[in-house]
Amino acid sequence: MKKITKAVFPVGGMGTRFLPATKSIPKELLPIIDKPLIQYAVEEAVEAGITTLIFITSATKHAISDHFDPMPDLRAQFIKQGKHHLAEKLDTLPLEIQRVFIPQGQPLGLGHAVLQAESLIEEDEMFAVLLADDFIEADSNPLSCLIEHAHQQQKATISVEQVAADRISSYGVIGAQAWHDDLAQVSEIVEKPSVENAPSDFGVIGRYVLPHSIFQRLRHTDMDHNREIQLTDALKQTLQDEGLQAVKLSGQRFDCGCQEGFVMANLHVAMENPDLAKKIKQSIK
Ligand code: G1P
Repeated sequence: MKKITKAVFPVGGMGTRFLPATKSIPKELLPIIDKPLIQYAVEEAVEAGITTLIFITSATKHAISDHFDPMPDLRAQFIKQGKHHLAEKLDTLPLEIQRVFIPQGQPLGLGHAVLQAESLIEEDEMFAVLLADDFIEADSNPLSCLIEHAHQQQKATISVEQVAADRISSYGVIGAQAWHDDLAQVSEIVEKPSVENAPSDFGVIGRYVLPHSIFQRLRHTDMDHNREIQLTDALKQTLQDEGLQAVKLSGQRFDCGCQEGFVMANLHVAMENPDLAKKIKQSIK
């Protein structure tokens, strides 16, 4: 099997929970302090060995491509002024990393977004999917860990964490056979179940490593009641035919798809900066 070097970033979502901010700014560009969510996810991918970034976009998301463009004139100006720390901040993506932008066309769900990358993935190639609104703080790179397990077992691998009962119905939820350290074979996966119907409290996080066969499964996945094609539904088929494994996230995840998670992520990162932390503590007092 080939090395895993391609990652898909579905960024076509409308971000309705953050309107009016998301009228003209894609939700993936909302910042955690000074860095947009999408940049954190891209940095995680590049650090994990990804060299091709595939963004599945919608018509209003040109700002994401702009964000990763070099700005040579401004950069040169900062350097001339001796402001090297500002010049560095403009380097959002190494030039050798390939970026591809594919329009999703219609907002038909996460599964439909992933399907748009089909022509760019070879048949014997596994690839990563990262959802930028899952902001993760971890000592070790979460995607590297998934890639390692996926590569070893040649199997679709997803990231999970235990979630509170009142959040279960916001996520894909798995049932698992016995855990061996942080790894388990998935026995069941269901999209956004009620707490009563959830097979466990392990919710799926937006980090996946998938085989090429997922595309065929997605093409045969029916739309759900919201007229969306769910990745989770295609993964059910993968689980039955090829097996699916889950890795417990070691680290802290903030669901920045909701306002509470977004504010908590900002607070968390702010409190890691001694200067900001001091000022915030003072002002709360
Ligand atoms: C998507 C997936 C869900 C997963 C979640 C992780 O949901 O459909 O299975 O648990 O991402 O963030 P969404 O956040 O698009 O509603």
